[in-house]
Amino acid sequence: MKRLALIALLGCALPAFADRMPLPANTPASFKNECGSCHFAYPPALLAAKDWQRTMAGLKDHFGTEATVDAKTGLEIAAFLERNAGNPDKLGTAGEPPRITQTARFVRKHREVSAKTWRDPRIKSAANCEACHRGAANGSFSEHEITMPSGLR
Ligand code: HEC
Ligand code: HEC
Repeated sequence: MKRLALIALLGCALPAFADRMPLPANTPASFKNECGSCHFAYPPALLAAKDWQRTMAGLKDHFGTEATVDAKTGLEIAAFLERNAGNPDKLGTAGEPPRITQTARFVRKHREVSAKTWRDPRIKSAANCEACHRGAANGSFSEHEITMPSGLR
């Protein structure tokens, strides 16, 4: 009986792991300040360590912008990202330059989103997580906290 209850509990709790990605409690302030100023401070688990290394090595020309940080801050952010990076086998390749939005995992999780939606001016880009995930800042990517701009799916 006890065992059954435990299994039922796990069954409910497990899927939630995929949609809860809060920043770790020891996230350096530099990450939020430097990497959350132009866009959402992406959870480190969404890219593999080697992809974060390439991202950090290419900040001079970062998607057409210049996002360099001083050397000490760069080391701190890189160490944080690599320590909390995701499993490359589960994520899949991220392209060059690495994009969360190009990983097989991201594509799979968003297969219901139409091409038209990604191009909508209210979304602008798939990288703009907060356009749909209203709980993203709190680490929630739950389907219960998604608001699609009206008329889209
Ligand atoms: C000066 C502005 C700026 C800063 C600062 C900045 N970024 Fe970006 N970042 C961008 C732009 C612009 C894009 C491309 C967004 C798009 O395609 O919609 C981008 C995209 C990304 C992507 C890919 C998103 C995707 O499509 O999956 C990652 C990963 C990323 N940034 C990480 C970082 C990290 C880590 C830092 C801090 C070291 C950082 N960014 C700081 C402007 C910035
Ligand atoms: C156009 C709106 C939109 C944008 C932009 C968007 N998503 Fe999503 N996301 C969705 C939808 C719709 C789902 C599927 C919900 C479902 O069916 O469970 C989803 C699912 C997810 C899931 C899976 C949650 C689970 O239950 O396993 C994660 C994780 C996620 N998104 C992360 C992101 C991240 C990170 C970004 C930005 C890099 C992003 N999304 C950008 C709409 C969006």
